[in-house]
Amino acid sequence: MPSNAIAQMWRTFRSVAQFDSFEWNATQRRLKRVASVDDLRRIAKRRLPAGVFDYIDGGAEDERTLGTNSSDFSKLEFRPRVLRDVSQLDTSTTIFGRPASMPVILAPTGFTRIAHSQGELAVTRAAARAGIPHSLSTMGTRSIEEVAEANPEGEKWFQIYTWKDRGLVQELVERAKAAGFGAVWLTVDTAVLGRRERDVRRGMTLPPKLGPKTLVDGAIHPAWTWDFLRAEPITFANIVGRHDEDGSTAISLADHVKRQFDQALSWDDIDWLRSFWDGPIVLKGIQTVEDAKQAVAVGVEGIGLSNHGGRQLDDAPTPVSLIEVVKQEVGDQATVICDGGIRRGSDIVKALALGADAVSLGRPYFLALGAAGEPGVDWLLEFLREGLERTMALGGVRSLDEISRELVAWRR
Ligand SMILES: Cc1cc2nc3c(=O)[nH]c(=O)nc-3n(C[C@H](O)[C@H](O)[C@H](O)COP(=O)(O)O)c2cc1C
Repeated sequence: MPSNAIAQMWRTFRSVAQFDSFEWNATQRRLKRVASVDDLRRIAKRRLPAGVFDYIDGGAEDERTLGTNSSDFSKLEFRPRVLRDVSQLDTSTTIFGRPASMPVILAPTGFTRIAHSQGELAVTRAAARAGIPHSLSTMGTRSIEEVAEANPEGEKWFQIYTWKDRGLVQELVERAKAAGFGAVWLTVDTAVLGRRERDVRRGMTLPPKLGPKTLVDGAIHPAWTWDFLRAEPITFANIVGRHDEDGSTAISLADHVKRQFDQALSWDDIDWLRSFWDGPIVLKGIQTVEDAKQAVAVGVEGIGLSNHGGRQLDDAPTPVSLIEVVKQEVGDQATVICDGGIRRGSDIVKALALGADAVSLGRPYFLALGAAGEPGVDWLLEFLREGLERTMALGGVRSLDEISRELVAWRR
């Protein structure tokens, strides 16, 4: 081939060839290939031992509610308005009088260090950077005080289950108050534990048992195993030494709930909580209009429309399907939070258009932590913010106040 032809080919190749600079940081390299929550989930599935992934990802029984929590968002379509000057967008809001950069709350999840040794500390720092509330679970693996130290300025909520040992619950709430937590979720959908069949099948215990299966699983997930073995043992950090099962003896989660949770919890107990907590209370696990009305009647400030991410009662109604009917009944008497199934910024806009004041989510950040540690959670929160802004711009709204019922319609 003549040399001028080769030179021409080289010039043409140079004009189109683009080489990204090599990313030396392995986590950032991984995140560069991520485009969605589904991608984070796929990476978490690859990196985490199967039992750990299934504990996070799984739902109750046939997992129908787990599926519909998300897929019900696709029953809504947008009615976008155009030519509205969307050059300036504002995603900020206030939740219980405290500013938030967007209407998103990180929901409480138990045993968060199972995905990454930093656990709740990584999550709370990422939430603080993003300017949104982070919720610490009673079943958390970092203590109230550790979380407060990692996130002294940001908004923090504490979640309680009511145990038979009421004194201990009161103690925890008082510690949370002293540490500057601003709201309490009272989870009301866990009288007994839902049957999570992936966990049953894998014999999942808390903490995880180190049997031959775990060892094999660990060997084929070396990054997780290395991180797990180098860190101090995982415990229920807030109640170490206070329960028979403080994290040092492996038992199933179902057995823990059966032994410790108070199945007699009732509406009268809201007054009991009120007697030592004067901040906002959000009932987490409201699933009917009747209970939403009763929640307002007993004076709680927040209604968490939630089925525990499809982990409790399978075939429970989806949070998104409840927003509108609940909002019509309760109006502005309570802050309505749609918890479950949120995977994109567009889901947030849909929930708000139906009348929710904010949304909360669990698996997306837990899986992000498993996929890429703290930078994974940062990535997720930026992804949600961008998605929220993009949907607002494409829908023709500039602020959350402009998101109205007219922005969405149920598909025919
Ligand atoms: C692994 C895992 C652990 C959870 N632990 C708790 C918990 O300790 N307390 C609680 O109230 N909810 C818990 N939840 C439920 C979440 O707070 C939230 O309701 C749910 O994850 C929302 O659904 P999503 O995962 O589709 O976002 C947990 C959820 C997951 C996935």
